Amino acid sequence: MKVGFGCDHTGIEMKAALMEHLKAKGYECVDYGAYDAGDGKVDYPVPGKKVAEAIRSGEIDKGVLVCGTGIGISLAANKVQGIRAAVCSEPVSAALATLHNNAHIISMGARIIGIEMAKAIVDAFFDAKFEGGRHAKRVQMIMDIEDEYKK
Ligand code: RB5
Repeated sequence: MKVGFGCDHTGIEMKAALMEHLKAKGYECVDYGAYDAGDGKVDYPVPGKKVAEAIRSGEIDKGVLVCGTGIGISLAANKVQGIRAAVCSEPVSAALATLHNNAHIISMGARIIGIEMAKAIVDAFFDAKFEGGRHAKRVQMIMDIEDEYKK
């Protein structure tokens, strides 16, 4: 599986640790920035949009995002049509984001959780499989809401 990573200035260290963690497990990892502290302050909508667009275009399969809270960057990613990003601070929600919501992206807050928790969260997210069935109907209902607002 090909996984894209994005973060703002608050998430550089966590993103690097998560990329290393998933690479060691055999995932192909693509970095969409921010790359290092030399990038200065990076507005989280930029990497959030980049990773979501890469999923939409088929360049990558899934995404991992990090900002201070995980909230802003996930909100940006969720604005890209067809993309579902979930903010999680513990592994149970992360597993359910895949099992029930078929989320494309897991988003975390570098100011909220530690790196070991973030590793457990990505493991739970990627180890789970979408259950389909009644959950597929509900996910489709989410996407139908988006379609209602298409111009
Ligand atoms: C940056 O200071 C901070 O606002 C950002 O990382 C994030 O927490 C936004 O949701």
